[in-house]
Amino acid sequence: MIEYDGSQNLIILSNNEISYVIYINNFGYLETLYFGKKLSNYNGILKSKELSDNGPTYFDLKKRKEQRFEDGFKIDASCLELSSHGFMDKRYSPIILETENGSFENEFLYVSHRIYSGLPKFHNSFSHAYGEKSDTVEILLKDSKERIYVKLFLSILDDKNILIKNLEIINKTKKEIKLHRAMSMQLDLPSNDYYLTYFPGRWSFERQISENLIHPGTQEISSNFGRSSHDYNPFVYLRKKDANNEYGEVIGLNLIYSGNFKLNIESGFYLDTKITYGINDEDFCWILNPKETFKTPQAVISYSYSGVDKMSQTFHDFIRQNLITYKKQGEYKSILFNSWEGCYFDFNTDLILSYIDKAKEIGSELFVLDDGWFSNRDNDYSGLGDWFVNKKKIDLHKAINHCKDLGMKFGLWFEPEMISYNSNLFKSHPSYCLGDIKSKKLYLGRHQFHLDFSNPNVIDYIFMQMCKILDEYEIDYIKWDYNRIVGEHFSSFYPKEQQGEIYHRLVLGYYSLLERLTNKYPDIMIEGCASGGGRFDLGTLYYCPQIWGSDESDPVQRLFINYNTSLGYPLSTIGTHVNDNKFMSYKNKASLALFGTYGYEMNPHKLNSQEIDDINDIANLYKKYHKEVIEEGDMYHLISPNDTNYFCAQCVSKNKSKSLVILVNKLKELDEFRYIKLKGLDSKSLYKNNYDNNVYTGEYYMNIGLNLSKEWLFEFECKLIVLEKI
Ligand code: GLA
Repeated sequence: MIEYDGSQNLIILSNNEISYVIYINNFGYLETLYFGKKLSNYNGILKSKELSDNGPTYFDLKKRKEQRFEDGFKIDASCLELSSHGFMDKRYSPIILETENGSFENEFLYVSHRIYSGLPKFHNSFSHAYGEKSDTVEILLKDSKERIYVKLFLSILDDKNILIKNLEIINKTKKEIKLHRAMSMQLDLPSNDYYLTYFPGRWSFERQISENLIHPGTQEISSNFGRSSHDYNPFVYLRKKDANNEYGEVIGLNLIYSGNFKLNIESGFYLDTKITYGINDEDFCWILNPKETFKTPQAVISYSYSGVDKMSQTFHDFIRQNLITYKKQGEYKSILFNSWEGCYFDFNTDLILSYIDKAKEIGSELFVLDDGWFSNRDNDYSGLGDWFVNKKKIDLHKAINHCKDLGMKFGLWFEPEMISYNSNLFKSHPSYCLGDIKSKKLYLGRHQFHLDFSNPNVIDYIFMQMCKILDEYEIDYIKWDYNRIVGEHFSSFYPKEQQGEIYHRLVLGYYSLLERLTNKYPDIMIEGCASGGGRFDLGTLYYCPQIWGSDESDPVQRLFINYNTSLGYPLSTIGTHVNDNKFMSYKNKASLALFGTYGYEMNPHKLNSQEIDDINDIANLYKKYHKEVIEEGDMYHLISPNDTNYFCAQCVSKNKSKSLVILVNKLKELDEFRYIKLKGLDSKSLYKNNYDNNVYTGEYYMNIGLNLSKEWLFEFECKLIVLEKI
């Protein structure tokens, strides 16, 4: 619900659990007064904002008089929705623009607001949130000098503690303006006693966890790789010093965007916290012509006063119910077998047919032919950009028919945004490459160039090529890969004045191709991938209901990656496969993969009959429980592998009737007392478990805990426990 309280000039956003209060001050600035647990009334709240009156004053040039800001407002210290830039407030501002006279000053002041139900309309081909159970306030602000306007959008969901923020900049002057920074939001908090948790990583080691106290100065979590990157994920959270998994205030943040992002956290002399989040302004300069607008991506805030897990669960539900657009979202997902780690580029039709047979034997329902099926692609030096079947290598019709005869679906790998120097496309259209092809060199990443996806002709061309394949062959699934970063970001398609737009235009190009393909082939499921998890973000999830979590599919390393990823993203989105790794048994590996999308990626001919049986046991559990418990259920992070000897996670179906629990110990465990206390069950109901085969109440499991003390646990032993309400 959103109300306007005219007597106090307040805009109040609330749902059953939280409130967010903005005060429109006498000067036209929007002050953020409150963000937290729901308040029953807002009387006297204006008192909370009054600061000492030793702040900057100004000289009114018309009245020839020094003026003081009134009502306790301190322009360089108050908590604001949108700071000015180039005046006395030296804190970070989400917007920097240059007007025709070369001025960098901007100060956006209140004009009007509009409250409506639902979320704001977004233009097509740009990932964004949806959902009717929500309200939005759209606040119009005008620059104090120029006819430049900003619309500040702020939405609250009724059924989740989620706020969504973004800005739109509108040029009503008669001259172009230059946006040097156009971020999505600002969130000012009146204290800095928070820990910041974020997820740095690298290839095959994505989303490790890092935590530090907010400290005076500036901290930045960002990407300038042209994608959200392996290096820093756009998901972060702030946790009050005394908060933990179950208790206390936690504020999660993410951005619905797949390109360069920047989260700036500033804490200054006043010991407050100022968060600014949006598109990275490095090399960014967007020319905004008269009458044009620039819409920034949406930033999403998940608020919890009941610890980290509640913040995570809120994000999970938001992603599944308000973000992913795939038409079959929430339906049963077929068990996937991917050819890559089994045979890499080295296959022929017979081998693939034999893989399909074996895949079927271990319960697969979807066979995916990964890289190497097209052009002259027998290694990673060639072929990208030439999307035609290499008929000498693979009879694709035969492979697909074989799948269909066995009742299986079929999927193919693509890397649409890339071009090999050894390709027909590079010979015929060198200018389709990103970077200056007239210069002496172009950098390569995995031996390939980046296509210029800011150029609509390139998108048309790739779209056409992909359609030819998708029209001729019956394809149910696409793995959309992206194996290099953006280096040179010069586009020969745009004039020199617009080169500062290219990074963002590449993202728009990525979304526009996804939009066209998902519109034309709505049944095809697209799984995102970028050398593993280099583009694991909300922008991608809007189109792709799952993303390959990491090229590290060894279960031990994956345990950390999946655990950390699931703090911000639901397990149903984390592409997870059982591979050939010998460190763990297939039973254990498959049990772990259940806590992800579940699939296989191995040489299936190496499996013995016992292993096939073990895998099938788990595949049957997947078929029985995945949709209700993992795909749709609530997840609890019971024990973190980051700082203990165990990894323990639990998922519970929304109706609390079924639950899966996984416990893994890292080192050999000799503890005498070992109980796991479960969560999310119905305390009065009786549940049978398959560990000691006893029946206990939910209350027992949650308070006394399931006793696992009877046995030693050896290195990386895995216990998968199933609970069913009786
Ligand atoms: C990337 C992906 C892998 C695989 C290869 C194919 O590395 O992450 O899963 O698809 O490309 O070249």
